[in-house]
Amino acid sequence: MTTHPDYWNQLYRDEGRPGWDMDGATPLVRELLDLALPLGLRPGCELVVPGCGYGHDAAELATLGFAVTGLDFAPLAIQGAMGRYGDRVAWSQADWFTTLLGPWDAIFDHTCFVAMDPARRPAYVEAAARHLRPGGLWLAAFFHDVNGRPGPPHAIPMADLRRLVEPRFEVLHLAEATTSHPRRAGREYLLVGRLRPIPG
Ligand SMILES: C[S@@+](CC[C@H](N)C(=O)[O-])C[C@H]1O[C@@H](n2cnc3c(N)ncnc32)[C@H](O)[C@@H]1O
Repeated sequence: MTTHPDYWNQLYRDEGRPGWDMDGATPLVRELLDLALPLGLRPGCELVVPGCGYGHDAAELATLGFAVTGLDFAPLAIQGAMGRYGDRVAWSQADWFTTLLGPWDAIFDHTCFVAMDPARRPAYVEAAARHLRPGGLWLAAFFHDVNGRPGPPHAIPMADLRRLVEPRFEVLHLAEATTSHPRRAGREYLLVGRLRPIPG
């Protein structure tokens, strides 16, 4: 059950370095920041990386001057992140759907949304909205193709993603990624969404 930390923890235990782990930050950190900096995101802003795994992206963002929380509910992920990157990131073993940490200025989401059971997507978007400050940014990557394999990861067509997020987020950017890791090239697209004001 992908909804349970034991599922993921077992993969970290069995595989040591699971298939999704790139042993370094994704180039999409820089690509998404290039999109977000003109929107007002600045070093010093508070970011969360949900499903941070071994913490490569979170650590890269901290190196670039952001105040970063790396969140994952699998104990071995958080232990691995701490072992690799120490305390330059605030590591949190917590469930994205139920944690009450934050709020943050932005979410950096790479391979977390796509790891979720598709039935949980509406709840995931609600959690993203709940975790952000007013006007906060959701910076994220999605797969529109997973080579026909059963998930996780799960693909989501761009049009479906837009329909899903638009009630809660203004879509500022939705387009193909151009700097994906070679193993993911041509299969990823990027979202920059700004949290809409809560009506009323
Ligand atoms: C496919 S892995 C990606 C890890 C990391 N982002 C990377 O690229 O190496 C998905 C991660 O999300 C975590 N995860 C899944 N559901 C979660 C939840 N509800 N709350 C927090 N973390 C979750 C898993 O433990 C796992 O580490």
